[in-house]
Amino acid sequence: MRADPSPRSAVPPRKAAHRTGQLLVWGGIGLCVALAGAVVVARVEHGLALRSQLLALPADDVPMHPALVSLAQSEARPLLAAQCAGCHGPAMRGNATIGAPDLQDPHWLFGTGRVFDIERTILYGIRASGRARNVTEMPAFGQTGLLSPGQIQSLVTYLLRLNGRSNDAAGAADGRAVYLGKGGCGDCHGADARGNADYGAPNLTTNSLPDGVSAQALYDSIYFGRHNMMPGFATVLTLGEMRALAVSIYAASHQAPTPSAGVAPGGAGARAGS
Ligand code: HEC
Ligand code: HEC
Repeated sequence: MRADPSPRSAVPPRKAAHRTGQLLVWGGIGLCVALAGAVVVARVEHGLALRSQLLALPADDVPMHPALVSLAQSEARPLLAAQCAGCHGPAMRGNATIGAPDLQDPHWLFGTGRVFDIERTILYGIRASGRARNVTEMPAFGQTGLLSPGQIQSLVTYLLRLNGRSNDAAGAADGRAVYLGKGGCGDCHGADARGNADYGAPNLTTNSLPDGVSAQALYDSIYFGRHNMMPGFATVLTLGEMRALAVSIYAASHQAPTPSAGVAPGGAGARAGS
């Protein structure tokens, strides 16, 4: 009689232990899942918080926050390829044929290259609509007969010499006289030819122009004028996307070792997590 119950009574404790083990295992798994979930939620919330910070901060404050800059860069990458590379080139180094400038260099046509300036250009475009960047255009001095081919040629010599690319001092002096006199070039490009960011008149002394810097390109610019255009993206992209683009272009063109104007590196790190 005892042989019968004893195996029976021996089984339940083993089963119970088995169940407890199972409970512990499942409980552990459940806990892990819950923890992992919490981590994911925290990450997503952190990402959303970062994303909303990207827009909540004044444009020019964003570069002070490394976490926001890297978020902007990863958001901008596919947008640059889809919306901008067609004109500015796959690596944003510009396309001289259509006058699309290099966006990675430190030369700026409009404004001083602050995030705010870049963002405005992306929003409204250039010579594209009523709110676009200043609609001032480079006049067609040759086509309209304002200047003779000889005068334009001497202007080209002057501009080449300003860039250290011509030894013709006499020709350059003639060109300088036309530049400051009949051409009135200084009205837009400045008497020193260093350009004017209010008009998008390029600096003519940097050996770096959107439309190329060969003597022929310079001649053509002065003879035919220029009407470089960029569409505005206000109705194509979201504000967040345009902010991400502006921040990423700013970051790429300000890779110099010095921190951005007026920003202390310590303050940048300290405020990044807030
Ligand atoms: C249809 C061609 C085209 C497309 C597309 C285009 N751009 Fe441009 N962009 C230009 C041209 C041309 C200029 C120069 C206009 C001028 O010389 O006045 C320019 C100028 C700019 C400037 C001003 C640079 C400076 O020196 O001030 C910025 C910034 C810029 N583009 C960013 C972008 C971004 C970002 C995109 C994509 C969202 C984009 N562009 C798409 C043609 C284009
Ligand atoms: C009314 C203002 C204005 C005047 C006057 C003017 N320019 Fe310009 N110039 C511009 C603007 C704006 C651009 C940029 C054109 C664009 O992006 O469409 C430009 C572009 C240029 C370029 C560069 C084109 C390129 O991207 O390669 C050259 C070179 C140039 N100007 C030379 C001259 C000379 C020389 C004169 C005098 C004979 C002159 N400009 C007078 C406004 C002016």
